[in-house]
Amino acid sequence: MTVETERPTIVLAVCGSIAAYKGAWLARALIRRGVNVQAMMTQSASQFLGKATLLGITGREVLDSLFDGGPGERHVEVWRNAKGMLIAPATADVLARLALGQACDLVSAAALCRTGPLWVAPAMHPSMWNHPAVRRNVERLKADGVRFFGPVDGEVASGEHGPSRMMDPEEIAERTVAELLESKPRDLAGKRVVITAGPTVEDLDPVRFLSNRSSGKMGYALAAAANARGAHVDLVSGPVALDAPLGVTRHWVRSARDLELALAPLCANADALIMAAAVADYRPRELAHSKLKKDPAAAGALTLDLVQNPDVIANIGARRTGSRPALIAFAVETGSDEEIAALATEKLLRKKVDCVVANAASDGFEGEENRVQIVDGHGVTALPRMSKRQLADQLLDRLVQLLLPGAAEKDR
Ligand code: CTP
Repeated sequence: MTVETERPTIVLAVCGSIAAYKGAWLARALIRRGVNVQAMMTQSASQFLGKATLLGITGREVLDSLFDGGPGERHVEVWRNAKGMLIAPATADVLARLALGQACDLVSAAALCRTGPLWVAPAMHPSMWNHPAVRRNVERLKADGVRFFGPVDGEVASGEHGPSRMMDPEEIAERTVAELLESKPRDLAGKRVVITAGPTVEDLDPVRFLSNRSSGKMGYALAAAANARGAHVDLVSGPVALDAPLGVTRHWVRSARDLELALAPLCANADALIMAAAVADYRPRELAHSKLKKDPAAAGALTLDLVQNPDVIANIGARRTGSRPALIAFAVETGSDEEIAALATEKLLRKKVDCVVANAASDGFEGEENRVQIVDGHGVTALPRMSKRQLADQLLDRLVQLLLPGAAEKDR
């Protein structure tokens, strides 16, 4: 095995397609962009491209079998250095193996062991690409977080035109390196994370409701980031106009009580709950089933009779016996940074959570950015203003720490 240098290494797996010759060009394009390439070939790729070509370009042994000898298991060992894996060209057959989670050859076994992003650049005849079985596999793989480069419209090997030509290798190399630089470790792989997002809505009558200004952007950014880091994410969302991030299971809720009901089964076996939803504290005592009309006797005034909603996260915190699920709450407050930190510290203790992410109402709502203070058992950490997506990763860094064995106990 080669030793990691300053240059990141990616696995380039070439599969058996006429486009396999472009695999050699792609290897060179990646190396020119500052990446080390560990080439891999399927058995059928060797019908189309010589091993010696890839060896000559990459300067490394080309791997083509699970059983090449040498210490360790090859499909596991490659990930000691590799930061990602690119399968190009990806045939209908390899997409099917990946979608099923098969491990019958080195390429599919290495893809199953991945600890970094997996990109695929399909190439096949248009009738294969359009076949329902391939469409199903593509959708399955996208939901699993696999990134697709192409295919593109153009002429295929048979001389016909269609939407299944492999993307230009220079463009694949460009996109791979760009995504590699942005990619995060899969340090939440195997973890179940429940994230709530958006406002709750408390209906007054069939026309009116009580709610708040939460856009859901912070919770959705957390869901996308946790999914990218390998977590199984359940996103419990109040009504918002956002698309669910790919690979995330969304559960729609409306009121605070809906939210509490939805969370009960999800939290039973979750590793973490991140409560980014802005839960309405009160709801009307009665839900009017027909529209409330103006009361001429009330002299222009209306008094609403409200009752308190359950404090959802406090109830979960009170019932929790061990350190799971790890609990992260949010707090939107008004006041100076010091006042906000004090209010968040009080909520940390009262709600028996591991961490409170506190921000000023003027900073957090609706926009693309946020500025927060993180309050946990160690004290208060003020973070600079940043995009909600960047902040999501910083908060998940905290979560990863909390999920280390024994971490939560030490914090208490
Ligand atoms: N929260 C909750 N259930 C509620 C209200 C809030 O689970 N009924 C959660 C929120 O999702 C958030 C945290 O508790 O993660 C803090 O919410 P916030 O509205 O700031 O706290 P409250 O307890 O409602 O306190 P306040 O008196 O400041 O409104």
